Amino acid sequence: MISIKNPIQLAKMRSAGHLLHDVLAATKEIIRPGMTTMDINAFVDEQIRKGGAIPTELGYCGYPASICASIDDEVVHGIPSPHVELKEGSIISIDVTLALDGWQADSCFTSPVGRISAEKQRLMEVTEECFWKGARMAVNGNRIGDVSAAVQTHAEAHGYGVVRDLTGHGIGKEMHEDPSVPNFGMAGHGSRIRPGMTFCVEPMIAMGRWQVHQLSDGWTIVTNDHSPAAHYEHTIAVTPKGLPEILTLPGFKWKEEEA
Ligand code: MF3
Ligand code: CO
Ligand code: CO
Repeated sequence: MISIKNPIQLAKMRSAGHLLHDVLAATKEIIRPGMTTMDINAFVDEQIRKGGAIPTELGYCGYPASICASIDDEVVHGIPSPHVELKEGSIISIDVTLALDGWQADSCFTSPVGRISAEKQRLMEVTEECFWKGARMAVNGNRIGDVSAAVQTHAEAHGYGVVRDLTGHGIGKEMHEDPSVPNFGMAGHGSRIRPGMTFCVEPMIAMGRWQVHQLSDGWTIVTNDHSPAAHYEHTIAVTPKGLPEILTLPGFKWKEEEA
């Protein structure tokens, strides 16, 4: 069942989203070669709690940390470790979910570690573009398949693989709610998009082929061909008219909606 949020609930999700934005913005600034993924986990966990929120990935289905930190061929759900040091030339996706006053926000960015190749830079840029292509389809009256198709079309136009095994999702009091928001699919298909719907659009894009497998840690998802992957996510709210609000990007205005 897809839950529709009222304005009071949306205001709470906005507060959660804005806090998560601030946490991730600060996190981007500390990433450098030599630090460990556990260092990043500790920083994020502290920032979330300072903001009066709870890191909801910790303990989710038994997940052991407050962030997912996925490096290079790791697509998602990389478990932070004091033994994994960031190396110059890598890319790392930091995916964080928090709850503030019982309402969830979920966002992810992929960052370079020091200097990276032009190919990896392009992969990161196109993955973010995929998010924007998808998010702008999240308007009253469209269907979820319109979002999915927009993401897929853009990624594949660049020769990249769209990871199929994981999807975006509704979000609210729970981290994962209906509907599922795949990054591939057919325009005009799927659930009707309505005002007050809140969901995460989160392209997970591989430079090579899209097939993935899970490591023996029971979490980390890796590309089969070991090509690098990028992940970019925001929590968005569908508005009665026009383009969606990006709850995890305070102050953002779509170009066509600027005064
Ligand atoms: N933040 C993830 C998402 O985008 C979920 C993380 S899985 C967890 O849906 F186990 F780490 F919580
Ligand atoms: Co996430
Ligand atoms: Co998500």
